[in-house]
Amino acid sequence: MRITIVGTGYVGLTTGVCLANKGHEITCVDIDEKKIEKLNQGKEVIYEPGMKELLEEAIKNNKITFTTNYKEAYSKSKVIMVCVPTPENEDGSANLTYLDTAIKQIMENITQDCYIIVKSTVPVGTCEKISEKVKMSQFEIQVMFNPEFLSQGEAINNFMNPQRIVVGVETMKAKQIMEEIYQGFDCKKLFMDIKSAEISKYACNNFLALKLTYINEMANLCEKLNINIENVLKVMKTDKRIGSTYLEPGIGYGGSCLPKDTKALVNLAKENKVKLNTIEATIASNKEQRKKLIEKLDKCYENKKDLNVAVLGLSFKENTNDLRESQAIETIKELKGSVNKIIAYDNKETILNACRNLFKEEQSIHFSNDIKVALKDADVCMIFNKEKEILELSPDNFVDMMKEPIILDGKNCFDISEMNKDNIKYDSIGRNVDGMNEKWRII
Ligand SMILES: NC(=O)c1ccc[n+]([C@@H]2O[C@H](COP(=O)([O-])OP(=O)(O)OC[C@H]3O[C@@H](n4cnc5c(N)ncnc54)[C@H](O)[C@@H]3O)[C@@H](O)[C@H]2O)c1
Repeated sequence: MRITIVGTGYVGLTTGVCLANKGHEITCVDIDEKKIEKLNQGKEVIYEPGMKELLEEAIKNNKITFTTNYKEAYSKSKVIMVCVPTPENEDGSANLTYLDTAIKQIMENITQDCYIIVKSTVPVGTCEKISEKVKMSQFEIQVMFNPEFLSQGEAINNFMNPQRIVVGVETMKAKQIMEEIYQGFDCKKLFMDIKSAEISKYACNNFLALKLTYINEMANLCEKLNINIENVLKVMKTDKRIGSTYLEPGIGYGGSCLPKDTKALVNLAKENKVKLNTIEATIASNKEQRKKLIEKLDKCYENKKDLNVAVLGLSFKENTNDLRESQAIETIKELKGSVNKIIAYDNKETILNACRNLFKEEQSIHFSNDIKVALKDADVCMIFNKEKEILELSPDNFVDMMKEPIILDGKNCFDISEMNKDNIKYDSIGRNVDGMNEKWRII
């Protein structure tokens, strides 16, 4: 099938290369000229494991093309999948400007009846409004909603091996189109009305945020009680009613989805005079959790002005180059000015360049793609994601490279029994067995 994909970000590009790999003819449209230029040269614009190979394969087989010429792209399309951003407005509601613009551009340029498949995450009723709007077109346009459930860092694998595909449709013809697009995917296809599909996406993301926040709060309590949260996790993860994923204690969720989708759902509920106490509490609790490493640092030092701090892992999670709502960036912003020097490590040049640009006025903040450079002579090391090079560090590496290693691990990367050596001061989330963290606190 010939499909045009609008927006070549994490969702659009993943959808494009995966559907091209399944044999469809894909045209990807974006308004970002630099991005399209790079893609036309076969270069990666986002980092996702497996993306480069699939992209090269699709280009080699002439299954995918990239363009900024949306007029031409829409004029020859019968099926258009929309994957543009839906960030948050100041009041937390979903900002639908990108979506509105894309729909307008589609309406102005199509030359035949077509199907618009919305993949962006949108509040309930959005597709209904689009359906109303497109009635003004001289062509018949059917709107469908097909939420995306991929997780960054595993996007290709998630898209190619979905647990289910959810589709909100109104007509049999639209259903047939979706069946054809996803013919090559061996999983349950859940067809339903559009509003149910719209709220299902929020229901899933909000539940994941709630689950992560619950385990973070449980970890905080365990830490106070000198209990190792890992023992609790062993019990919880083997309970099938609870499930074993999204139970990793840490410094709070970040990224481009959970923070905005929790706020958008609370907003939607408010508009409908419903109170979502659990999600409001999740948002507040996550905000607190994101300060955890700073709080731990403050417990070690009354005066931080001479400290050299190594920050490891800049993206909001490993295996992605997405800096949106990055816990590390937030922490660097908070620390700057109060410490002597910050050296931040990341293994991706795109991230380092974006950060160098973000902090270009700051003389005391440096970035390196060499983990050893970041750790060399550091007083404190703060860890923000589970990138491979971070997990590969041994206790001796910290001892050899840092002054007197104080390690504040926001992702529980290391075994406490290995790290709890005399010459290492190690603190993580929810693991203060026998008060080990208090023994070495300076104040
Ligand atoms: N990132 C994720 O993990 C994820 C997962 C599931 C769902 N979603 C949802 O999918 C949507 C897209 O998210 P994303 O992370 O891929 O966004 P993104 O910011 O990575 O990419 C969006 C792309 O759309 C382009 N764009 C904006 N307006 C356009 C227009 N009028 N025409 C053509 N291109 C246009 C931008 O230039 C950008 O390249 C959001 O609604 C998000 O909530 C994201």
